Amino acid sequence: MCLLRRGASGATGDGEQALGVPSITRATTRAVTPTASTIALANQKGGVGKTTTAVNAAVLLARCGYRVLLVDVDPQGNATSSLGVAKAALLHTTYDVLVDELPIGQAVTVTDRRNLDLVASTPTLAGAEVELVEAPEREHRLARALAAVADRYHVILIDCPPSLGLLTVNALTAARYVLIPIQCEFLALEGVGQLVTTIDLVKQRLNPPLDVIGVLMTMFDARTRLSTHVVEEVRRFFPHRIFGTVVPRSIRLAEAPSFGQAIIEYDGGSRGARAYEAFVGELIERVGFDPSPDASALGGRPGIPSDRVAVTK
Ligand SMILES: Nc1ncnc2c1ncn2[C@@H]1O[C@H](COP(=O)(O)OP(=O)(O)O)[C@@H](O)[C@H]1O
Ligand SMILES: [Mg+2]
Repeated sequence: MCLLRRGASGATGDGEQALGVPSITRATTRAVTPTASTIALANQKGGVGKTTTAVNAAVLLARCGYRVLLVDVDPQGNATSSLGVAKAALLHTTYDVLVDELPIGQAVTVTDRRNLDLVASTPTLAGAEVELVEAPEREHRLARALAAVADRYHVILIDCPPSLGLLTVNALTAARYVLIPIQCEFLALEGVGQLVTTIDLVKQRLNPPLDVIGVLMTMFDARTRLSTHVVEEVRRFFPHRIFGTVVPRSIRLAEAPSFGQAIIEYDGGSRGARAYEAFVGELIERVGFDPSPDASALGGRPGIPSDRVAVTK
């Protein structure tokens, strides 16, 4: 059931329980939609909320009936762990796709969450930056891999590492959109100029359609003037790009990954859950998706045409 709301108020919870630890199997999905919208979450600063946003957006979009692929491109594999996937049991990962050009369909881990697949990551991926140095068209490896499965998903989210190296460049080259999470903290904009320059270079040389879909402010602390000041500063820097939703600093959001759960599964009534629902509602509008493939979830409003509706495994 789709729980998204436009506002940040109201109680959540539709009775769905947390879905437990995902199983590790290969994908058996079949083509359902022409081309996925691919969104890379990038910021070379660590700890700004890239993974938290990627995981929570992925789970919420999947609950709305969109078929979602989350690609973990960070050797730390935090998105993988946050979904409760045990790295030791993985057959194939992002490393195999990028370095050995394994067809990405064979690296997809089907999670126990309906409509949500994952290409997982382990620390081995750290070697890819070096191993790909001499590789031809090394910046296009992920783009080529994802093109082969774009017809299976409505949305592909790419969780980037905290650097602007080859892994992030691969993500930006593969993406139609880049989403920039920024933490409400001192020096929040430090390095953002460099990120924007990198995005511009990728756009000019590797991937002309790339656009910034928006900037999401995270870890907002209403008790401090600093948070408000930082949001104003970032709004001046990105006047039209900042999302209306600001994600509050919340212990519950920080706790959820250690249970292998998204916030909607861990504490659906929390402020963090409400914020991510509101954010994903905005994201759906910005990307231009139809409201939800799961029409019943939105009180029978028309969703996307039935030939594009997700197939339940
Ligand atoms: N809104 C939030 N409130 C409190 N803690 C958060 C919030 N968002 C993320 N965190 C925590 O902050 C840390 C860094 O977030 P993360 O999403 O992993 O950042 P990144 O992927 O950019 O490195 C993690 O421990 C995460 O659980
Ligand atoms: Mg991360």
